[in-house]
Amino acid sequence: MPAESVLGLQWGDEGKGKITDLLAQNADFVVRYHGGNNAGHTVVTGNKKHFFHLIPSGIFHKNTKAIISNGVILDLGVLLNEIDTLKKEGIRVNNKLMISPRCHLILPYHKALDIAYENARGKKKLGTTKRGIGPSYSDKVSYNGLRVYDLINWNDFCGKYRFQAKIKNKILKTFGVKPISIAKSLIELKRQRTRILPFVKDVFEVLNNAAAAKKKILFEGAHGIMLDLDWSPYPYATASNTVVGSVNTGSGLPIRSLDRVIGIVKAFTSRVGEGPLPTELHGRLADAIRERGGEYGTTTGRPRRIGWLDLEAVRFSCKINNVDEIVITKLDILSGLLELKVCTGYTLNGRKVHYSECGYNELAKVKPVYKTFPGWMDDVVSVRKYKDLPKECRNYLEFISKFLGVKIKFVSVGADRNANVKM
Ligand code: GDP
Ligand code: IMO
Ligand code: MG
Repeated sequence: MPAESVLGLQWGDEGKGKITDLLAQNADFVVRYHGGNNAGHTVVTGNKKHFFHLIPSGIFHKNTKAIISNGVILDLGVLLNEIDTLKKEGIRVNNKLMISPRCHLILPYHKALDIAYENARGKKKLGTTKRGIGPSYSDKVSYNGLRVYDLINWNDFCGKYRFQAKIKNKILKTFGVKPISIAKSLIELKRQRTRILPFVKDVFEVLNNAAAAKKKILFEGAHGIMLDLDWSPYPYATASNTVVGSVNTGSGLPIRSLDRVIGIVKAFTSRVGEGPLPTELHGRLADAIRERGGEYGTTTGRPRRIGWLDLEAVRFSCKINNVDEIVITKLDILSGLLELKVCTGYTLNGRKVHYSECGYNELAKVKPVYKTFPGWMDDVVSVRKYKDLPKECRNYLEFISKFLGVKIKFVSVGADRNANVKM
């Protein structure tokens, strides 16, 4: 299949990094097309863990080029650190990485504003990653953003930056927060600009030519569908659209050129940040799953909230994205439970309701309808063939696939690249 997209179908951290790396093995291009360094994607090779926040997770493969297209917002400092880390690991990105001039920038005042808003919200905080994501995207839509394109003409950039930073500093002062130093930040931006500009390219042409030549292109979605700006229980959202439509707006590839949509589903639920989570678990069971699964944020290190698999939510994600196949991850983490549950629907005041009709108030009150499954005791980390999985495990997987009406492509049973069960 020439053009495929990988999407997280829950609240993020489904294992998109691992699966992108795996599927990118024979891809010509791997593309990040929305979001910023609020994303944290992990790839494990041998006994080494690699964390990606902006660079596409498929960069390790020799013949795969990496693209950061227009929908992504860039914190240049974070991007340069990632480039330097890769260099230390022996991966040179010079002839591999391309960045669209249309990418908007995350600037120092965006981060300061994100933190100031979160602190001012107090107990009603949203739990953002404080990476400046919301403020940068809001400048984009209010015509106040600065793009990689603007860096090309440094004098013009400085004028625009000073204008914006002075206004932002006034807002920061109303929060009682120290303003940012315009002069210091410009010195740093100038240094970053020199290193970034050689990567800038008309990514639109590259991708559309590649699609016409039937090259394999893999789009790496970030976050999860439940965090989509329009389709989440807003304001408990991230500031980009995470649904598959973003492939078109965020990269310039016509949506009809996308051949396949692959959804990633963690075998249970996790989320970082605030907001309703209908199947949330508390206490010893949640703690045990969190510890076993290493469920701590890849970006912020925060403990992730844990819940049973929410198939009402995942069914919505499959529908809105027209998902062709799913990959189920972290199945190994569920070994050793006497029984497990999946949510097959919600009720509100005794009435059946769907995810799509709920705002955050309703979603906080819905009661999940659960189906209970017997668990399995065996460790499944070393299983590679479907028939070798415990019967209870196969029942669990078969129920999920049947309920969603979507085929399972394969199952991930460990963080390592090779820890996968073929169907
Ligand atoms: P992403 O944001 O969707 O790329 O996911 P993260 O990288 O933030 O979090 C997923 C975590 O689970 C990472 O630490 C992965 O290395 C790990 N992981 C991925 N798949 C599996 C799996 O099947 N089993 C186990 N035990 N860990 C996995
Ligand atoms: P990956 O790509 C998990 C969540 C934040 C917060 C909300 C808004 O690794 O799956 P933001 O900083 O985006 O304004 O925060 O969105 N969030 C994620 N949670 N994984 C992610 O990315 C996330 N990206 C954003 O925790 O609740
Ligand atoms: Mg993550």
